[in-house]
Amino acid sequence: MRLINASILTSAILAITASAACTPNTVDTAGLQKLITDGGAGYTLQLCSSQIYELSEQLNYTAANQEISTEGYPTDDTRATLKMVGFNKTTSVMAQDAGLNGAKLKNIQIDGNRLDSEDIYTAGGANIEFGGQNQNQIVEYVKSYDPRGWSCLHLAEGTFNCLNITVQNNDIGPCGRDYFQNWADGISLSCADSLVQNNQIVDATDGGIVVFGAPSSIIRNNTISVKTRTMLGGINMVDVLPWLPEGNFSNTLVEENNIFGGFSTELGNQTFGFNNFSSIIKIGIAIGPNVWFSDERYGTNKSTGGIIKNNKLSGGFSFGIGLSSSKDFQILNNSFIGNVSFFGEYGPNCTTNDKTPNQPVPLLIDYNSVENLNLSLPDNSKFQFKNGTALGLTCFLPPTSGNFWPYGEGFNSVPSPTDQVSTNDGGASQTSGSGTSTSPATTSSQSSGASRFAERSQKMIIGIGLGLLGVLLIII
Ligand SMILES: *[C@@H]1O[C@H](CO)[C@@H](O)[C@H](O)[C@H]1NC(C)=O
Ligand SMILES: *[C@@H]1O[C@H](CO)[C@@H](O)[C@H](O)[C@H]1NC(C)=O
Ligand SMILES: *[C@@H]1O[C@H](CO)[C@@H](O)[C@H](O)[C@H]1NC(C)=O
Ligand SMILES: *[C@@H]1O[C@H](CO)[C@@H](O)[C@H](O)[C@H]1NC(C)=O
Ligand SMILES: *[C@@H]1O[C@H](CO)[C@@H](O)[C@H](O)[C@H]1NC(C)=O
Ligand SMILES: *[C@@H]1O[C@H](CO)[C@@H](O)[C@H](O)[C@H]1NC(C)=O
Ligand SMILES: *[C@@H]1O[C@H](CO)[C@@H](O)[C@H](O)[C@H]1NC(C)=O
Ligand SMILES: *[C@@H]1O[C@H](CO)[C@@H](O)[C@H](O)[C@H]1NC(C)=O
Ligand SMILES: *[C@@H]1O[C@H](CO)[C@@H](O)[C@H](O)[C@H]1NC(C)=O
Ligand SMILES: *[C@@H]1O[C@H](CO)[C@@H](O)[C@H](O)[C@H]1NC(C)=O
Ligand SMILES: *[C@@H]1O[C@H](CO)[C@@H](O)[C@H](O)[C@H]1NC(C)=O
Ligand SMILES: *[C@@H]1O[C@H](CO)[C@@H](O)[C@H](O)[C@H]1NC(C)=O
Repeated sequence: MRLINASILTSAILAITASAACTPNTVDTAGLQKLITDGGAGYTLQLCSSQIYELSEQLNYTAANQEISTEGYPTDDTRATLKMVGFNKTTSVMAQDAGLNGAKLKNIQIDGNRLDSEDIYTAGGANIEFGGQNQNQIVEYVKSYDPRGWSCLHLAEGTFNCLNITVQNNDIGPCGRDYFQNWADGISLSCADSLVQNNQIVDATDGGIVVFGAPSSIIRNNTISVKTRTMLGGINMVDVLPWLPEGNFSNTLVEENNIFGGFSTELGNQTFGFNNFSSIIKIGIAIGPNVWFSDERYGTNKSTGGIIKNNKLSGGFSFGIGLSSSKDFQILNNSFIGNVSFFGEYGPNCTTNDKTPNQPVPLLIDYNSVENLNLSLPDNSKFQFKNGTALGLTCFLPPTSGNFWPYGEGFNSVPSPTDQVSTNDGGASQTSGSGTSTSPATTSSQSSGASRFAERSQKMIIGIGLGLLGVLLIII
């Protein structure tokens, strides 16, 4: 008994000692790098909670099984922040050279520090560059946002020997801006046999999760949403490079993800309102290069061999699923939940070589360019795939006025007693940019707006409660 108690005490003391040894932000970038380099294989750079570390250039992992994390592994805003301040630098942490198996990035925040006034830095990399010629790396409980470059988190393919990255429980975004070619991805996955799960991606502006083939990977239970920006694609399987043969999505499984297009932020009529940010997801799930690239630059190459099932979509989109130039895909039992609508106006770049894409619809398929697909929808699906031109669907533009966004996320219109009660079995509604209004707008009570704020402040109280608990635990 005594021995056991003593060993518990010893490990408690060791744990305290370890957490007291965090490296403070008075150590500059070169000093942090020296610790990593001198620490060698298995070294953990433990940063101090609530501190901001301004980086003048990227930190490089230099040996196998190294870790960068915050002491105590917090998951909230007390995670240490690496903030890129270096002139013309984009990437904060780099673990792609050979010999970096088992690299870990845990429980920290990466602030890419792209200013509101700045255009994207086109030459550089993502906030986080992992993968490369390595296996068994982990990125978890990391918040990555405001990248100066093209992605919040890039898992690279290396020389096609990248395997088995685990990317989980991260909160990602905002990433990029929603004006032309200033977009950035949430997660860009090009490492094979990887697991991307339980991540929250909010306000990425290019793809929420872009799957570059990444054969045999699993992308599961991620939540992708927009709040203040428009996202081009929720989950993209449109890039036929770099994995070979072109379009190799063999056994890549995309399942049980939740994709939320924009919801109304203002009271409009009974079923739809306006979104102050004109925020939508243009394509919930995009499959096949032509869905994306209106110039058909990949010729007859097709996205090939993936499985997309049991994903759920809700909110405002131009297209729920857009499907072209693909083969041997299984696209099964993906469903719309809550309220949805599909809208968007033809933008100036919508017509290429006399081809104009179909107007917004829930499920668009270009039967002329697909081969051997296994397609199924839930038995009770309100929507079916429509055959039409699915080319360059990112050209649609969200309207800048009008009640097109459905209600959701606890913000609802409240019909007055005199209004006709709408049958809302599952709540699916559909409009299009060219849809004409048939029913007059109804006056909605402000009380629903108030209830949304009530819900928010309740969440805040719970958050504060947990914060106190955390402090108490540390004191004990
Ligand atoms: C990390 O590696 C890059 C490329 O080799 C180098 O330019 C940079 O200076 C390194 N970072 C640090 C902090 O030394
Ligand atoms: C920024 O860095 C890129 C390479 O990463 C380089 O091509 C470019 O010239 C640099 N720009 C400036 C202004 O130094
Ligand atoms: C994949 O990586 C994880 C995390 O490092 C590890 O736990 C797991 O054993 C690896 N799987 C294989 C098959 O090597
Ligand atoms: C899905 O992810 C959320 C975090 O976003 C997590 O809380 C939940 O437990 C996950 N569900 C499953 C079945 O793993
Ligand atoms: C796709 O890539 C994987 C990993 O490199 C490879 O094993 C597989 O054979 C490729 N698929 C096809 C259809 O060639
Ligand atoms: C939307 O914009 C209006 C007018 O500027 C403002 O009153 C309202 O608070 C905004 N709503 C949100 C959710 O930001
Ligand atoms: C497939 O794409 C590759 C890479 O862009 C291109 O070189 C090749 O010509 C394309 N093949 C066909 C048949 O379109
Ligand atoms: C279809 O999807 C729904 C909702 O995600 C799920 O409850 C159901 O189990 C799925 N059915 C099959 C056969 O996988
Ligand atoms: C259309 O494409 C041109 C470049 O070809 C670009 O400058 C312009 O911003 C695009 N417009 C929109 C609305 O995306
Ligand atoms: C789909 O529509 C195209 C015309 O846009 C037509 O050529 C083709 O036969 C249609 N395919 C199916 C399966 O309906
Ligand atoms: C769907 O919209 C209606 C108003 O048209 C609202 O009453 C209902 O709560 C919304 N459903 C969800 C799941 O938010
Ligand atoms: C609400 O507004 C939208 C867009 O203007 C219109 O399509 C819809 O019919 C309107 N609904 C009601 C109930 O007035």
